[in-house]
Amino acid sequence: MTTSPAIEFCNVTMRYRLPDRRIPTLKEWAIQRLTAKLRYNDFLALQDVTFTADGGETLGIIGANGAGKSTLLRVAAGILAPSAGEAVVRGRVAPIIELGTGFDPELSGRENIFFNGALLGRSRAEMRRRFDEIVEFSALANFIDMPLRTYSTGMVARLAFSVATTVDADIYLLDEVLSVGDESFGMRCQERIERFRRDGGTILLVSHNLPTVERLCRQALWLHEGRVMARGPAPEVVGQYHAGAFSPSFAGRFEGG
Ligand SMILES: Nc1ncnc2c1ncn2[C@@H]1O[C@H](COP(=O)(O)OP(=O)(O)OP(=O)(O)O)[C@@H](O)[C@H]1O
Ligand SMILES: [Mg+2]
Repeated sequence: MTTSPAIEFCNVTMRYRLPDRRIPTLKEWAIQRLTAKLRYNDFLALQDVTFTADGGETLGIIGANGAGKSTLLRVAAGILAPSAGEAVVRGRVAPIIELGTGFDPELSGRENIFFNGALLGRSRAEMRRRFDEIVEFSALANFIDMPLRTYSTGMVARLAFSVATTVDADIYLLDEVLSVGDESFGMRCQERIERFRRDGGTILLVSHNLPTVERLCRQALWLHEGRVMARGPAPEVVGQYHAGAFSPSFAGRFEGG
């Protein structure tokens, strides 16, 4: 019997459109647009990316700053639609990326739990059922009715991680999350991730912490300048990345606009 992979990228290309110069004001933008002086360059954040992740697999994604790792997770989360190619994700996704996005600083912690749950596509009833567990895990009970803008960075991260990992999900998309929060919260995050793995969850794990990648992931994928350089057993791919890790050159990724 064959089962379909949980995540399937087929020739995914992601273009960001950038103006070819800095435009200081809206007025300046309007003038340049009207006089047709406004030009764009297309920047290829992902180029022809093809890979699959099986259900239950924890796949590490490694690569230099700007390689396209977060972009890949945004595409998998459905936040960005690929410019070309196809990304198929089978199951309920909990994106734990750019912690704090999907939160409103003016709302209280309590309100944000429901707000964020709605963004994750979870019903109010599910969020009500999970509420106590979320607050307990975040250890923010004393702050839960205060506006989020009064939280520290780590406190926002705690709330975001608690919400994302308490709702039911089949797939976690983790972008450097193991490095936020203090030591004790970091350990509890790791326990949660381990439990999710044991229960058969699928994970894409982006991290610059290569020992963590080797510990948690059997397989890894190395992105370089938006392209897949290697995919295979994590120790091998980490070795190849070390051997071939050169500073990124962004030149080859611009397309004339
Ligand atoms: N919204 C955007 N508009 C234009 N360019 C962007 C945008 N987001 C990312 N990029 C560009 O796309 C490239 C890939 O960015 P991405 O955030 O995916 O890299 P990354 O691998 O996650 O890097 P890091 O390790 O620093 O987190 C970068 O060169 C970045 O400048
Ligand atoms: Mg990133």
